[in-house]
Amino acid sequence: MLRYMTAGESHGKCLVAILEGVPRGVKLDQKLINLQLKKRQMGYGRGKRMKLEPDKVKILSGVRKGYTTAGPITLFIENKDKTLDRLPPVTCPRPGHADLAGMLKYNIHDARDILERASARETAARVAVGAACRLFLAEFGIDIFSHTKYICDVNAQIKQLSFEDIKRNASKSAINCADKYAESLMLRRIEQVKRKGDTAGGGFEIIVLNLPPGLGSCMHYDRKLDGRLAFELMSIQAIKGVEFGLGFEGARLPGSRFHDAIYLKGKKIVRKTNNAGGIEGGMTNGEPLRVTCAMKPISTLMNPLDSIDIKKKIAKKAAVERADVCALAAASVVGENVAAFVLAQAMLEKFGGDSVSETIRNYKGYMNSFKF
Ligand SMILES: Cc1cc2nc3c(=O)[nH]c(=O)nc-3n(C[C@H](O)[C@H](O)[C@H](O)COP(=O)(O)O)c2cc1C
Repeated sequence: MLRYMTAGESHGKCLVAILEGVPRGVKLDQKLINLQLKKRQMGYGRGKRMKLEPDKVKILSGVRKGYTTAGPITLFIENKDKTLDRLPPVTCPRPGHADLAGMLKYNIHDARDILERASARETAARVAVGAACRLFLAEFGIDIFSHTKYICDVNAQIKQLSFEDIKRNASKSAINCADKYAESLMLRRIEQVKRKGDTAGGGFEIIVLNLPPGLGSCMHYDRKLDGRLAFELMSIQAIKGVEFGLGFEGARLPGSRFHDAIYLKGKKIVRKTNNAGGIEGGMTNGEPLRVTCAMKPISTLMNPLDSIDIKKKIAKKAAVERADVCALAAASVVGENVAAFVLAQAMLEKFGGDSVSETIRNYKGYMNSFKF
């Protein structure tokens, strides 16, 4: 069983993750992990913190001469801003953030300890974990990328684009958007909300190619891959909805227009559509995985909403912390890497293996065993 745990505060000394269960022999290229960490810090609309030096991972255990040993992998990211002990208390909770619920839960007047841990800075550790899992998935040719579908009311048009185009265009975009025209409107919208001291949310789609069919299970609720992906993706800060394929829009359609009819092309099973997003019955069905995450607007507003001072019991504006105006591009990098973890877990459950060569052998045996 692949599993991990993270520790660390937003302005503390560091973030740490321990990832356990990666088989022996995966080439863990630190540069590729750092690339994902760098991508997480980029994107138009980010706050000043992102202008600090890029995050870099130190691998403290579980890797020898660049290859995993099968032991627990410790991933360490030093914080550039370690001012935790000097930061002021936060007594005016920000609507939308964890502040008020955390103050009530822990019975405290200062939300500092809450927000330091609730902050999306924690996602740096999750990205490092996911980036390591991606390197394992790459052994099977599994490719993960994402693109921004909408920011506020501006939608990208990607219907005419191939996966290759989506991946290439998005990677060149300041906001991870594959549609150049929509990108310019999105950037303008971010500027507009920023000028008003406001924030923006949106939606991004994660696409995964070359997954084998049969990951996950239809046999028990907690083995279903869509449920597991939805849980992990919803646990990303500010993600408030997860849709597979056509998602909520598909719920309005009759079955005849929604479901993906099955055909034979020679001896190959094919679909002409992928409205299911690559998962049926809690299992991958051989089509590309397509999952969209909806991110709510950032909670810290430079023009703050009404709140109260919990200590003084008086009306006050909400606290203002250094913050992003829009973090869609960053959230999509987090989403990709969180999905990578779940998919690596599902691959290991299906194919097992104490060494990656054993996993590959089992994978090949399965892929060659289809009777169709
Ligand atoms: C990549 C990323 C960056 C974020 N940056 C900020 C930020 O700068 N300021 C902020 O208030 N919230 C930010 N958030 C969202 C908060 O962390 C999140 O809203 C908060 O922890 C409460 O959790 P919830 O929205 O899941 O309920 C960010 C989220 C992500 C994924």
